Amino acid sequence: MSEKINGKTHVFGVIGNPIEHTQSPLIHQLFYEVTQYNGTYNPFYVQEGMLHKSIEGMKGLSIKGLNVTIPYKIDVMEWLDDIDPTAQIIGAVNTIVPCKDKLIGYNTDWIGLKMACSYHKIPLQGRDCVIIGSGGAARSAVVMCLEENVGSITLLNRTCEKADQLKREMQALKKDIPMYSGTLDQVDLVKSHSIAIQTTSVGMYPQENISPIIDEDFFQKVDFIVDIIYNPKETLFMKKGKEYHIKAVNGLSMLFFQALKAFEYWTDITLTTSQINRCLQRLETIIYHQTKNEKVNVNE
Ligand code: ATR
Repeated sequence: MSEKINGKTHVFGVIGNPIEHTQSPLIHQLFYEVTQYNGTYNPFYVQEGMLHKSIEGMKGLSIKGLNVTIPYKIDVMEWLDDIDPTAQIIGAVNTIVPCKDKLIGYNTDWIGLKMACSYHKIPLQGRDCVIIGSGGAARSAVVMCLEENVGSITLLNRTCEKADQLKREMQALKKDIPMYSGTLDQVDLVKSHSIAIQTTSVGMYPQENISPIIDEDFFQKVDFIVDIIYNPKETLFMKKGKEYHIKAVNGLSMLFFQALKAFEYWTDITLTTSQINRCLQRLETIIYHQTKNEKVNVNE
């Protein structure tokens, strides 16, 4: 355990509804322990209609930082004083940072994905990327790909119109990166040696026996898989990829790094590589030991 709560303890938390399955307190506690930081991180259940009051309460109570999860990532933007430009493009905020008397909204999901790719040595610059899905998580993935100057982006989604719409919107931001869109069976759109980023909830516990794509032509064209799901540890999509000797990583490191970036925003403390390794290994042990006996229900 890190220091006990006292008068100097900095208070953080996550707001959402439901909130009982959040893993964020566990992750931030690891940061506090490894850096000897005097902090406490709490889940806050925010009832429907109480979001504005909660944000005002954050100011009133001098809470040092809040994460925001489902269903408030979009609605919360209305009550903040300023929004980081990238969070604005993604259209969602998951981290609130107090700055003087203002509350600033950031999105660390895309940075978490970027840091996870870097941690696992998945090269992005100049590479062709295929993103499965076109919802909120896919938006973060597209923004990360644009920021990392990938070679091209192909969006595959169950509903083609949503993929087309996301492509149009994002293409306007960076015209020099070619973008394509189609349905999940349009595997012909995928370029050889692509990096696949799976952003849907398909294959998440308890529906572990489904995969958004099973076409073997797809897996023949992919070099790396990043699946944002972390429960189960290995999705069917990842399992399929491994049959084709594709390096596949799950969403736990993304979850970890989005939390780490929030911790950095709030405290200005940067963890060393060895501290990061220690925390991540510990998280893996706790989560996957826990899931053997007691299943974790949600991906945050
Ligand atoms: P999130 O914020 O987690 O991305 P979302 O915005 O609701 O959630 O997006 C969910 C994504 O998963 C969408 O791309 C959705 O496809 P549609 O646009 O066709 O709805 C995709 N998805 C969800 N359930 C799916 C399923 N059973 N098969 C295929 N795709 C699915």
